[in-house]
Amino acid sequence: MNSKLVVGNWKMHGSRASNDPLLAAVAGARPFGCAVAVCVPFPYFADVAAAWRGSELLWGAQDCSAHEQGAFTGEVSAAMLSEFGCRFVIVGHSERRQFHQESDQLVADKAKAALAKGVTPIVCVGESLAQREAGETEHVVKRQLSAVIHTLAHCAGEMVVAYEPVWAIGTGRTASPEQAQAVHAVLRTQLRAATAHADRMKILYGGSVKADNAGSLFAQPDIDGGLIGGASLNAEQFIAICHAAG
Ligand code: 13P
Repeated sequence: MNSKLVVGNWKMHGSRASNDPLLAAVAGARPFGCAVAVCVPFPYFADVAAAWRGSELLWGAQDCSAHEQGAFTGEVSAAMLSEFGCRFVIVGHSERRQFHQESDQLVADKAKAALAKGVTPIVCVGESLAQREAGETEHVVKRQLSAVIHTLAHCAGEMVVAYEPVWAIGTGRTASPEQAQAVHAVLRTQLRAATAHADRMKILYGGSVKADNAGSLFAQPDIDGGLIGGASLNAEQFIAICHAAG
């Protein structure tokens, strides 16, 4: 097995009826030559845990609270994720930054809360189309990552980073392998300055990854796998992407 990681982000999709065959199809397509996980809505934890129990397939959540516990109605703590066997939690997805006004510091605090409970944060960074066109891509992703690096301090090497250009999410407009690699290289350099583990950390690419473009993205030296939205809901697509990473 190589060291690539493919993570499905189901977002707010699914139903118990449709999840079952999807999870079974992915399990049935093993072995993959890479690590595979899905990040599902909270109510589906028990179902995905049961469906994949005893396999090497992993699963996670799409958000957690920055607080340990308390009067935070509607929030879910990292300890609760950990209790269920959750391995990953996505933090700072652009949809949460945009629709829930999550700041760089809040994202960093969530990543720290997750790590403290043994849950690996998948920290998303990425620029909007306006920012890319204004030549601000590097500045934006470095600022977003920098908050997390400073907050995690000596634990920074334990996170997974995901570069997701906002203009490529759900649009069918993928970053070219060269565009993605250029940003991944910037992030790797930033990580190297912060931790001795940078070269074995995973930097995933996300944004309209499909079966037919996954191979060329994953062939880039600093692209260590993918964070897959829409295509992770389709068994055939997701399985093909996992095999492309193998
Ligand atoms: P799409 O693969 O649907 O573009 O979504 C990417 C994403 O946001 C994964 O977190």
